Amino acid sequence: MPRRNMKTVFTAISPVIVMIVVAGALSGVHAKEGSARSNGGMVSSACPEATAAGVRVLEAGGNAVDAAIAVGFALAVSYPSAGNIGGGGFMLVRLAPGETVFIDFREKAPMGAHRDMYLDADGNVIDDLSVRGHLASGVPGTVAGLWKAHRMYGSKGWKELLAPSLKLAEKGFAVSPYLAASLERLHARFEQYPCLAGFFDIKGGLLEAGDILIQPELAGTLELIADLGQDGFYRGRTARMIADEMCGGGGLITEEDLASYKAVVRRPVEGSYRGFDIISAPPPSSGGIVLLEILNILEGYDMDGGRDMETLHQVVEAERRAYADRARWLGDPDFIDIPVDNLISKDYAAELRKNIRSAATPSVELDGGGAAAPESEETTHYSVVDAEGNAVAVTTTLNGSYGSSVVVGGAGFLMNNEMDDFSVKPGVPNMYGLIGGEANAIEPGKRMLSSMTPTIVVKNGETWFVLGTPGGSTIITTVAQVMMNIIDFGMGPLEAVISPRYHHQWSPDLVYFEKDGLSDDEREGLEKKGHELRERSPIGDVQLIMKEGNSLTGVSDPRRGGLSRGTGGASAH
Ligand code: DON
Repeated sequence: MPRRNMKTVFTAISPVIVMIVVAGALSGVHAKEGSARSNGGMVSSACPEATAAGVRVLEAGGNAVDAAIAVGFALAVSYPSAGNIGGGGFMLVRLAPGETVFIDFREKAPMGAHRDMYLDADGNVIDDLSVRGHLASGVPGTVAGLWKAHRMYGSKGWKELLAPSLKLAEKGFAVSPYLAASLERLHARFEQYPCLAGFFDIKGGLLEAGDILIQPELAGTLELIADLGQDGFYRGRTARMIADEMCGGGGLITEEDLASYKAVVRRPVEGSYRGFDIISAPPPSSGGIVLLEILNILEGYDMDGGRDMETLHQVVEAERRAYADRARWLGDPDFIDIPVDNLISKDYAAELRKNIRSAATPSVELDGGGAAAPESEETTHYSVVDAEGNAVAVTTTLNGSYGSSVVVGGAGFLMNNEMDDFSVKPGVPNMYGLIGGEANAIEPGKRMLSSMTPTIVVKNGETWFVLGTPGGSTIITTVAQVMMNIIDFGMGPLEAVISPRYHHQWSPDLVYFEKDGLSDDEREGLEKKGHELRERSPIGDVQLIMKEGNSLTGVSDPRRGGLSRGTGGASAH
């Protein structure tokens, strides 16, 4: 595999930026490290450098979209497992007066793609072909999406918004303990993908917490984007480098694929839950539809008793039904017809609710497909609200952690492995165990189905809270459960985010739960009802901003250790 040397790394002389990752203990002082309160604007992201970039833009008079653009590019430098310019995502905007817009910058299948491209001569799925290496990448959308957002709402100069990320790439930043630990896990892939070693190791050893990571090739690419806007990525030098990298490694993306990529403005899906308006992600994300379907089913139940056994069972059964519909109906709306209005209607939810019994419904009884277990999960969400009340929620991803493992030679950034989000063969699960069929089959130029769920909740006509999370298939259930914690169980924002999570996705027919996420009684009760349980790693990394009185509270999930900060030297929460 072609790979140019990309390493310029120095050992830190300055103190490591303190980022306390809460290992297991999701409470007390540590959990509060990532939260903040402010009477001005607020930024919540998975990475302190990116949050700082956004706060600086707000303090210089930029609006929430300006700040989100700066955060997005900063994450591409300082949070390389998921922050990206080689991936895609979704931006949900709600302006203070109430206008809502969804910018879809999801990756697309290259024009050379075809539905059986990951199958062998016998029609079997070839292991890992859609997950690692050049063939796993869709045409990236991030730069086009942030550019579109700037054209629509930006108030600051584009170059000014890229300045913080350029500086991070050129001058470097101190590797956090979180990044160091994630590189440690990445190490196993170095032999097969030497480009990663060139990127992330120092003289044969892995970068450690406190080392400074400098990325001159990425800085060169960012400079082109700063100078030329989206053309700095989709045309000319960068486009050629991507196409050469793909061609040399057996990938499909061409300069024509890149030149024709467009971010698309769509109408968000809108619904309500117990009187609050919900604005969320439309197809090609399944997020908004599945979220509303779950919440619509649950709205028919009385939750006054708090999180009791009945509630747990009802949530699991609602999740099971909504994910069955995901598999059956959802895909790229530019290629298939989706009965959105029906799926998010209260009448349809009432019908589904009728067949929820007091015992678990085996998933095979519901119309859908197959099985598998969750894998490495890396995506990232950031939320921004400015002092005027404009709100932005962005979820962005390379799909798996460090995407396809391919670094574009000379251009210094990682490519996504988003092609795995297609249904590579009907009934065969992807890396998140999700199953799909015809609706999400591969076609040239089609967007693969996503679960990313940037969401805004509105109370009395004003943005109340903004949230989102990574987590692959668990994204939607995480957003739903944090919303329930706030709306049904009356929790404050910090408690709502910390509170343990569980997850069902119709197939496999299992209730996943975090360590200590279900009490012994809860486990016993669910098993008695016929649910099969499986403990798993922590679920999600929520970035939430909530309006409380006249101020904003930002909470960054202590599960991974991000940072929320407000403008004007906001006080710790
Ligand atoms: O679009 C999607 O649904 C997935 N590619 C998101 C992947 C993800 O969240 C990985 N997670 N942490």
